[in-house]
Order: sequence, then C-alpha cells, then structure tokens
Amino acid sequence: MGRPSGPNASRADAQRVPTQREGLAEPLSLPPDGAEEDLAARLRERAALSPEFWSFSGRSRREGGHGIFAYPAMMVPQLQGALLEDVQAVDPTVSTVLDPFMGSGTVMLESARRGLSFHGTDINPLAVLLATVKSHIYDPELLAKVRQRIAVRVIEDESHEIIVNFTNRDKWFRDDVAIDLSKLKRAISVERPRVVRQAFWVALAETIRLVSNSRTSTVKLHSYRPEEIQARQLNAIDTFLRISASQIEQLEDQAVVLAQGLDMNPSLSITCTVADARSAARSKYRATADILMTSPPYGDNVTTVTYGQHSYLPLQWIDSTDVPGMRQELLEYTRSIDSISLGGKLKGSLDWADELRVKSAAFAQCLDQLDGHPRNAQTRMVAFIRDLDESLDAIVSRLRSNSWMFWTLGERKISGVRVPTVAIVRDLLAARGARHVETLERKIPGGSKRMAARNASVETMNSESVLVMRGPCDTHCDSRS
Ligand SMILES: C[S@@+](CC[C@H](N)C(=O)[O-])C[C@H]1O[C@@H](n2cnc3c(N)ncnc32)[C@H](O)[C@@H]1O
Repeated sequence: MGRPSGPNASRADAQRVPTQREGLAEPLSLPPDGAEEDLAARLRERAALSPEFWSFSGRSRREGGHGIFAYPAMMVPQLQGALLEDVQAVDPTVSTVLDPFMGSGTVMLESARRGLSFHGTDINPLAVLLATVKSHIYDPELLAKVRQRIAVRVIEDESHEIIVNFTNRDKWFRDDVAIDLSKLKRAISVERPRVVRQAFWVALAETIRLVSNSRTSTVKLHSYRPEEIQARQLNAIDTFLRISASQIEQLEDQAVVLAQGLDMNPSLSITCTVADARSAARSKYRATADILMTSPPYGDNVTTVTYGQHSYLPLQWIDSTDVPGMRQELLEYTRSIDSISLGGKLKGSLDWADELRVKSAAFAQCLDQLDGHPRNAQTRMVAFIRDLDESLDAIVSRLRSNSWMFWTLGERKISGVRVPTVAIVRDLLAARGARHVETLERKIPGGSKRMAARNASVETMNSESVLVMRGPCDTHCDSRS
C-alpha cells in the first residue's frame, strides 16, 4: 500500500474513527477461552435486536473505493465490517485477514479500515487490478491534474485509428465508440507512475461496461439488437470524464479510510495477487492469516455468475502490462477465464464423487437426488464441489491454528435440485477439523444477484448464508477447545 505525504495524512488524522480495539491492554498471546460462544452470542444478539440485521436492506451503499466498478456479486461491505468488529471484540489477537476469492476487494477495504492486514487472491486479473487500486492511498489533487491532462490529449487527438482488435470487436463496439476508446487508451498509456495509470484503467473499464454493445442488465455478454445499437446515444469520452471525476472523489474517501487503518496499525500490509485458490497456498505462502473471510462463486461461472466474461471487454482495452498477472491466453475466448475458474472443467469430475461422499453427507444426498436427471447435472455439481474441496486444502494451509472463518455462500438449483453448498462446505471443513460456530441467513435485498442467464436447469436463490467456523487447531490449542 502506498501512502503519499501531505494533505491526506493530516485530513485522515482529523477524521480518525475510534474502534473497539483501542484501550485494550497488551494483546493476549492466545484467544480467550469461550471465544466461540462469545462470538455466536454477539452474532445472535444483533439479529435479536433487529431481525433483518444481516440482510442490510437499505444499509448496503457502496461508498468510497467500494463504488469504483460494478463487479458482479459483490459482498455487502457493512455486513463484512460488522463481522470483523465482532471477531475483533472476542479475539483481540487477530491481525491478518485472508480472502482467496477476493473479487473487487470488499473484504480488503473493510479489513484495512480496521487496521487488519490483508492477503487477497483471485483468478481474474481484472479483480486484482480493482483490488490493487482500492488498496492505494491516492493524492486526489494529483489525480485531478492527470484527468485534466488526459482530457486535453483526447481532445487534441484527431486520429481515427482503432488500436484494439480482437474477434468480434465490431460486434461489441460501434466504430465511433472504438475510436474514442482508442484515444482514451493512448492518453492514459503515457501517464506515470503505473499505479496512477491503474486508477484510470479502472475508470476506463467502468466506461467500457457502459458504452459497449453488451447489455448492462446481465453479467454475461449479451448484445443489444442492431437497431438498438444504432439508436443508443453514446459518447465514450464524456462518459469517461464523468466516471473519472466521481472516481477521484471515491478515491479521496478511500484515502481517508486507509490512512485511518494505518494510524491504527502502522505495520498494516496489503497484498493482492492473481492466483488460483486451489494452488495458491501450497508452494508460495506460509500460514499467516487468523481470519478467513471470503465468498467463493455460487457454482461454475458459466451457468451462475460469469466473472470472466464480464471482464473480457475491459481487459481487451487496458494495457496488459498494467494488469497484475495478465496473460494473453486469458483473452483468447470470452469463456477463457471462466473455464479455469472453480467448476470450469467438467471432464473426469465424477471420478471424485466417492471421495467427496465420504467427506460430506450433504454432498452424498444431493448426488443421489440428481441421479436420473440428465447426466450433465451430476457432473456439474461434482466438478464445482471437487474444485471447492481442493481449494480448502490450500486455504486451510494459509491459516494459523484455531483461526476464524466467515464463508458467504449462495446456493443454486441444478435441474430443479437445490445444491446444499452451505451444508457441504460445513462438512468439508469439519472433515479437516474445523468447528461450527454459527450460520447466519440473509435475504439479498432487491431479489437475487445478477446471474449469467435465466436458465431452466440452473437457478440461484435470493438469499445467502454466512457460515462461521473455527479451526482447524494444531496440538497446542486442542486442549482449550
Ligand atoms: C463471489 S465473487 C467474490 C466477490 C467479492 N467478495 C467482492 O465483494 O467483490 C467470487 C470470486 O471468485 C473468483 N474465482 C473463481 N474461481 C477461482 C479460483 N479457482 N481461484 C481464485 N478465485 C476464483 C472469481 O473470479 C470471483 O471474483
């Protein structure tokens, strides 16, 4: 995380928000006994005082850095924030949060705000670019000057050359729009340093979401009809200037939040990297996190939320050297990122069914229910759970002994059968020695999250759960649990 000197720092100091951590004596070396019961009691008390507390209906605005890009299926920042505060209250020793399915970095910003260090990974490079920008303390005056320079360059640029080409480019962008996006790309590319360019690439990504020929009502690429495309009033340059202006305000608020986190914890660190959750831990990382807070996909991306497809058009326009972990093959097809994500490869998945049956009774029951449905239904269910199970080995190896886990999970139906993902993840974690603390249910305000498509064989629910678990535990804490 970079921190500029000057106006931000003093402004942040003036707005410093006290937290529950302040005033505590020396941190305890081990969490106090009974912390699990204390946490469960706190979580229940919130719902007892206000039955719809966990739904956060009307209280889930995405403020500051949380609002810079409409990434699919983002978490509710306030909900994750409340959970972090509750766990900090019962276990003041916690210092580092892990999110292996980080997406746009909602958990990152909520952790940093509370002085908690953060390690996040995602398989989608656009997600990591967003989280990287959200982890930086930008100087708003510098950003305003850069925006002005970009505007001047674009206005003076008389070229009609379209500098980005990929399969079906003309299907997804009108020529006039592609010419304007080319001017913007040229104007952003010459800025220095990289982290400043990255902020403007995010503004360009949000611009592309709005001016491409793909409907914004779905996360899957789905083009307008030709007559609709011609009739649309589009001006990519005006859109970019409007978005970048409001983004500078959002990043100014973000700078205050991050500076507040640094004041609480001067050794606060944030890392956001591209990695596959199934392999992220094994070789590179040590067990350093004491909170796991994450939200894996609801099912395979192709039939639930197409994170990769949603990122495909923006990633075509952003200089790939500025996108962390970007590889050219990820842009080959609209499905390239989705097919390497959880549940993306179906081949051979049924071979894992017996092993998973042993670990999870809920899995076994669901597999039996899908018997007799089109064979593909069982294959899809097993492929996703197999990948999720593989990621648990990698995730658990990155957690300290007796750590806290918060899994925000959605369930979907395959071929009319509801896949009990919450019960399955609980079983799979219990098989690794973790203990159940509490399960919170919440309605998703405004109906279900935006899905890939309405599809007779795959549906998702308009509610989700937060599964709270603890452990596994090494030999030193077994006696206390
Ligand atoms: C529900 S979203 C996370 C949203 C995030 N909590 C937020 O608020 O923006 C799930 C994420 O998992 C990522 N993902 C899917 N398969 C993955 C894998 N094998 N390894 C790492 N990330 C993966 C997707 O790219 C997506 O960003």
